[in-house]
Amino acid sequence: MNVIEIKDLHFSYKDSGPVLSGLNLTVKEGEFLAVIGKNASGKSTLARLINGLLEPTQGEITVLGLDAKKQENFYEIRKNVGIVFQNPDNQMVASIVEDDVVFGPENIGISREEIKSRLDFALKETGTYEFKDSMASRLSGGQKQRVAIAGILAIKPKILILDESTSMLDPRGRAEVIDVVKKLNREEKMTVITITHYMDEVTECDKVAVLNNGVIERVAPPMEIFRDKDLLSRAGMEQPVFMKICDKLQSLGVDIPDSATKEQLLQNIIELKNKQ
Ligand SMILES: Nc1ncnc2c1ncn2[C@@H]1O[C@H](COP(=O)(O)OP(=O)(O)O)[C@@H](O)[C@H]1O
Ligand SMILES: [Mg+2]
Repeated sequence: MNVIEIKDLHFSYKDSGPVLSGLNLTVKEGEFLAVIGKNASGKSTLARLINGLLEPTQGEITVLGLDAKKQENFYEIRKNVGIVFQNPDNQMVASIVEDDVVFGPENIGISREEIKSRLDFALKETGTYEFKDSMASRLSGGQKQRVAIAGILAIKPKILILDESTSMLDPRGRAEVIDVVKKLNREEKMTVITITHYMDEVTECDKVAVLNNGVIERVAPPMEIFRDKDLLSRAGMEQPVFMKICDKLQSLGVDIPDSATKEQLLQNIIELKNKQ
C-alpha cells in the first residue's frame, strides 16, 4: 500500500519563485526513505506539504488515502504524520519529560488509561524511561530528540518525518536517534522519511529520493545513489568515505570491483593483508 502519493506537485511561497515544480513521489507503507537535496531545495517545504501545514499551488497529495488539500482531512493527516524538527529545544512544551510526552495525546482527547499505556510504550521505545521525571532542559541534545520522538509516538502516527532532526546533535546523539528510528521502522513497521545530509543515515535507508530543481530527480537504493557522483553533487553531498577509498585503491591498481560495498572493501583489505 502507498501511504503517500504525490503527483505533479507545484508550490511557491507568496511573492516568490517556485520551490517545487512538478514533483512526483510515492512512499510505501513501512518504507524507510531518505530525502536528500541542497540547502533551500525545498525539503522542509515538502515535509510541511505532506502533513497539510502548507497548501499546494497545484497537484495532488494523498496521505493514507486522504486528500491533503481538503481541510476536513487536516486533523486526521496531522495525527498520522509526526514531524521531528531540527532544534530539540523548540519542540519541548513542558519542563518535565513525562509531561512533555503526554501533551500530544492529552490534546487529542485520549482517555487517561490509554495515555498511560501510550506513555509507557513511547518512553520504552525511545529509551527515555529512565529520565521520565527529569527536567527536559537537563538532557543532552540526543536525549531531547528522543523525548521529542516519544511525544510523537504517544500520538501513534503511521508516518514519522525527521526534518534534519540530528543535525544539531553530536555523533553520539545522532547515533542514538538513528537507532531509535530504525527500531521503530523495523519492529513497529512505521513508515519513516528522514531528511538528512548525513551519509551514515542515508546508508541505513531502503531508498533515497534526490530533490533537485523542484522535482524528485531520482529514487533508488543508497548504493545506487552513492555510485552516481554527479547526482550526489547536485544533492550537495559527497560519496561516502569507503567509496573514496575504493576509488583510490583502484587507481593504485588494486583489484576491487566498482560496486564494492563497505563490507566487501573490508574483505578485500583483509585478503590483501593475508597475501602479504
Ligand atoms: N515561510 C517562507 N516564506 C517564504 N519563503 C520561504 C519560506 N520558507 C522557506 N522559504 C524558501 O523556500 C525555499 C525552500 O526552503 P526549504 O523548504 O526550507 O528548503 P530546505 O529544507 O531544503 O533547506 C528556500 O528558498 C527558502 O528561502
Ligand atoms: Mg530544511
